[in-house]
Amino acid sequence: MIEIHAVTKIYKDLTAVKNLNLKINKGDIFGFIGPNGAGKTTTIKILATLLKPTQGYAMVGGYNVLTQPDDVKRVMGYMPDNFGVYDDMKVWEYLDFFAAAYKIEKAKRKQIIDDVLALTDLSEKKDAMVDALSRGMKQRLCLAKTLVHDPQVLLLDEPASGLDPRARIELRELLKELRNMGKTILISSHILTELADFCNTIGIIERGELLYSGDIQAITDKLRGGKVVEVKVKEGFEQKAEEVFMNDKRVQKVEREGNEIRVYFPLDLEDTSIVTDIMVENGIKFTSVKELEIDLEDVFMQVTKGIVQ
Ligand SMILES: Nc1ncnc2c1ncn2[C@@H]1O[C@H](COP(=O)(O)OP(=O)(O)O)[C@@H](O)[C@H]1O
Ligand SMILES: [Mg+2]
Repeated sequence: MIEIHAVTKIYKDLTAVKNLNLKINKGDIFGFIGPNGAGKTTTIKILATLLKPTQGYAMVGGYNVLTQPDDVKRVMGYMPDNFGVYDDMKVWEYLDFFAAAYKIEKAKRKQIIDDVLALTDLSEKKDAMVDALSRGMKQRLCLAKTLVHDPQVLLLDEPASGLDPRARIELRELLKELRNMGKTILISSHILTELADFCNTIGIIERGELLYSGDIQAITDKLRGGKVVEVKVKEGFEQKAEEVFMNDKRVQKVEREGNEIRVYFPLDLEDTSIVTDIMVENGIKFTSVKELEIDLEDVFMQVTKGIVQ
C-alpha cells in the first residue's frame, strides 16, 4: 500500500531524508519511530503529496505521489502533527466543510458525519464548538476529519503527542478499530512504548536514515539474539543460581543484579520453562520466573545512538 523508493529530501544544505526505501503492506500498522528531527514529518509529507522529494518517488495505494497526486489524496488520509487553526465552527460544520471539500454530495454527508463521529466517540459533541473541545477530543476530531472520504491509507503524524494518559488510551482504542476495518496505517512517534502493543511492523529512523525496518518481533529477536527469562531467587541462592545457569549448555548468557537473574537462550529454544526445571533440580528457591516481553524502548536505545540533529 505504501512504497518509498530511494527518497532523499534536501532542505538547502541539510539532508533531512537520505535514500529511504520502505514497503508497507495492506493492513499493516507501521510504527515510524525516531527522535525529534529524524525526518519523520518530512517523509510523511512526501507521502501525503505536500512536499516533493529531491530524489526518488513514492507510491501510495498504487498511485505515484509525483505524477498522480490527486489519486493519492483520494485514497489517503493525512493527519498533521499540529491541529492547525480552528474557526468559529461547530463540530459537525467542521466535518461537513471537509466532506464538501472532498466533493461528497450533500445528501450523503450527514450519514458520513454521523458515522465518523460515532467511530471517534464524538457523537455527543456534534453541536459543540470546536474551540471548546479538550485536546484529546480535538485530536479525535482531527482524525475524524481525515476519515470523511473513507481512505484506505492513513498517515498519522505523532497523533498521541501532548495527550494525557486517558486520551492516549482512547486514541489507541480508536486506532485498533481502524486496524480492524482493514486500513493500512503509518503512525509516527518519538515515544516507542506508545506504539508497542499496536503496530505489527516498525521502522526506526535517525538523522534521515532508516536504521531498521520490519516485523517488531524479528527486530527485537535480532537485537537480543535470543530469548530472555528473568528470575527472582530467594536470599542466599543468588550465587548458586548464577553458577548453575552459567554451567548449563543451553544457556547463552547470564546477567545478575541483586537477586534478579536474567538468563539468555538461543531463539530456537521453544520452551523456556527449563529455567524452572533447572532451579528445582538444583534446589534453588525462587519467587518469580517470567519470559521478558518485547521492550521497544530497549530496541530503540540499541539501534539509535540517541543523536538528534
Ligand atoms: N522547511 C524546512 N526547511 C529546512 N529544514 C527543515 C524544514 N523542515 C524540516 N527541516 C529539518 O529537517 C530535519 C527533519 O525534520 P522533520 O522531518 O520535521 O523530523 P521529525 O518529524 O522526525 O521530527 C530537521 O533537522 C528539521 O530541522
Ligand atoms: Mg515531526
